[in-house]
Amino acid sequence: MRNRRTAEPSSSEITPESVFLNRRRLLAAGLGAAGLSVAASVAASVAASAAASAAASAISSSSPMVVSARGLSPGEELTPEDIVTSYNNFYEFGMDKDDPARYAHELTTDPWSVEVAGECAKPGEYAFEDIVSGFTPEERIYRFRCVEAWSMVVPWQGVPLRRILERFEPSGNARFVEFTTLYRPSEMRGQRSLFSSIDWPYVEGLRMDEAYHPLSLMAVGVYGKPLPNQNGAPLRLVVPWKYGFKSIKSIVKIRFTRRQPKTTWQLQGPQEYGFYANVNPDVSHPRWSQASERRLPSSLFEPNRIPTLPFNGYGAEVAQLYQGMDLRRDF
Ligand code: MTE
Repeated sequence: MRNRRTAEPSSSEITPESVFLNRRRLLAAGLGAAGLSVAASVAASVAASAAASAAASAISSSSPMVVSARGLSPGEELTPEDIVTSYNNFYEFGMDKDDPARYAHELTTDPWSVEVAGECAKPGEYAFEDIVSGFTPEERIYRFRCVEAWSMVVPWQGVPLRRILERFEPSGNARFVEFTTLYRPSEMRGQRSLFSSIDWPYVEGLRMDEAYHPLSLMAVGVYGKPLPNQNGAPLRLVVPWKYGFKSIKSIVKIRFTRRQPKTTWQLQGPQEYGFYANVNPDVSHPRWSQASERRLPSSLFEPNRIPTLPFNGYGAEVAQLYQGMDLRRDF
């Protein structure tokens, strides 16, 4: 992001076309029966890996999985799993797209606890299992648009963020919610790097009405398996109408606040990254256009650029959150 001169990848970042051709899966129009079988297999594989993972065991596998592919056009394809899990931004493990997949195994994610603080009735230290237990897992197939102008279509599994936040009974004073990623330089080599300009830990935030929006998801899985470390194990946000940097990974703190949180990328480059970060083709990043995006996987010869949609295609559901706001100023 900040350290990149352009939105385009280097040739080493380009996904081989063969990977795409071998692994591509078509999303049938409206998902239909295909979607339900995806749900069943996700439930099965979440259950199957339960012993190995606190993430999986925390989710009750007896309940039926709810599947939603909101906002997707018929025929839009899932991004292959190996791209989703190997082309990552997780600067705690390095600046290159393949660093997280290479180094994130160094992170211990079990046990995991989350501190809850601020304007709520139930602050405290919660085990990961206690945060996500008892909910029916949902699969949400979402577009995922990075501010760097690449995008994917990803099948996440998780719990609506609202359901999790309500557990802590936020008070009427809570106007925003701040999320913080783990700071553990011994296991996160990017946090020890002299080349990193980021002021760790990584912090993100949402307005409460954004956090309570039905599309906001606390993800614990992807492609029917517990989140791999490089995708933000054991729990990360997914906010599909915003640029990907809002979808903070490996969360260890949730704080309810009156004031708008100071977020990592805003502090890094306030001219480049706003607090709201709603996907907006009409507001260019100072160094590149946001009018279109490169849908992964794409090759050097077939860049696969598609027009970027306002709110990443979720405008009908979220635009009302921003009524009366100037989205050029509050970008
Ligand atoms: N969360 C943390 N803690 N650190 C990061 O560097 N990168 C963000 C976001 N969450 C990031 C993070 C950015 S820029 C993007 S695009 C997405 O994670 C990438 O998510 P993915 O690797 O699962 O596709």
